[in-house]
Amino acid sequence: MAFNISTISCFVPGRADATVRKMLSLYNPVACVLLGDMPYISKSLTAWGYSLSTLDKNSTEQDFRDHYDQFANHPAIKELRNSNILIYSVFDDHEWGGNDWDHSLVKANATPSINAITQADVNKHWKAGRDAHDYNVSTYYDNPPNTDLDAVVTAADRPENALLEGQDPPVSDYSVAYWRQGFALDGSLDNVAPHLEIFTLDCMSYMDDIEKIDDANKTRLGPSQLAWFKAHLASSTATFKMIVSSKNTYGVSGGSNFDDWDTYTTERDDILAFIAANSITGVFWVSGDQHVNNVAVQNTVEHTYDHFMLNPCPFAQVYSATTPTINTQTIWADKQQVFGLISVHQDYCDLSICNTATGKVLFKGSVLAGSNRYSVRDIPVAI
Ligand SMILES: [Fe+2]
Repeated sequence: MAFNISTISCFVPGRADATVRKMLSLYNPVACVLLGDMPYISKSLTAWGYSLSTLDKNSTEQDFRDHYDQFANHPAIKELRNSNILIYSVFDDHEWGGNDWDHSLVKANATPSINAITQADVNKHWKAGRDAHDYNVSTYYDNPPNTDLDAVVTAADRPENALLEGQDPPVSDYSVAYWRQGFALDGSLDNVAPHLEIFTLDCMSYMDDIEKIDDANKTRLGPSQLAWFKAHLASSTATFKMIVSSKNTYGVSGGSNFDDWDTYTTERDDILAFIAANSITGVFWVSGDQHVNNVAVQNTVEHTYDHFMLNPCPFAQVYSATTPTINTQTIWADKQQVFGLISVHQDYCDLSICNTATGKVLFKGSVLAGSNRYSVRDIPVAI
């Protein structure tokens, strides 16, 4: 028995209609994770019965909903929805305006600017987009509710930038969007005795300013989500744990952006040290956002603890013209339109990056049960 899960991230309409058909017919996944930047609300587009404009500080929740509605009616996404597989939708920064959203005026007004004047404008834009995302998920997708009693939001979880200029937004503006879902070895949903457990992180709602000093006071996940994540990762009985993070753990800098875990290294390293200290195995990370497909591996001496991250991105988006600077953890990178494929078996998971147009596997590596180590099954093509 085995089953597949696919992931796609960064989708600009007009590029990938045939890909979904190929992905479904070749690999027959039981689920697909939409891993962020879907849609880009800054893109104006007239198609499929919708005529949309770029959103800014004056946009309403309905304006955001229109973008989500249009995206859900893209022929490729419609085909995916009609396939009856599970579809999970995760937001990243471009479900809001600006670039590299971190609740700051600076990033909200980065190109494409929302033309905010005050922090209140930024918070209002966030709230409209966040409410529209809830509508989007409940209308079109299959994200499970988070029923864990420790999945909470407190006043301390609110992002620091949102509190500037005397603002005091309610905690309900930052409601829980992170969750976990178990699967049995036959690919059916199973939260009682899962073989695979997916942990989907919210990398946006609680984050500190990207440019804040990177020390123990800087957070991307916020205190409540971080505590939830650690507690349930440690207590998970699943053989494999798939961490869905819209941000790279080790980025390919220079080619796309610096908005990844490389600017939150203290919190990242604390999480990875926690996994090592608690002997949590079968862990791998799947990310998006950076428009350079890449794979990162962080090995330790004697492989007492390792880390393996797959970034199958972008699905249908252009690349930066800048040549990327490869991180020391990067073992493979390429510039193609891709999707991710997680093939879950009894004793191993194969993690692949596949070409969008052909479905062909470009990279494949494995994690073995009882380990976090990247192991080679197919020799990856060097960058
Ligand atoms: Fe993107």
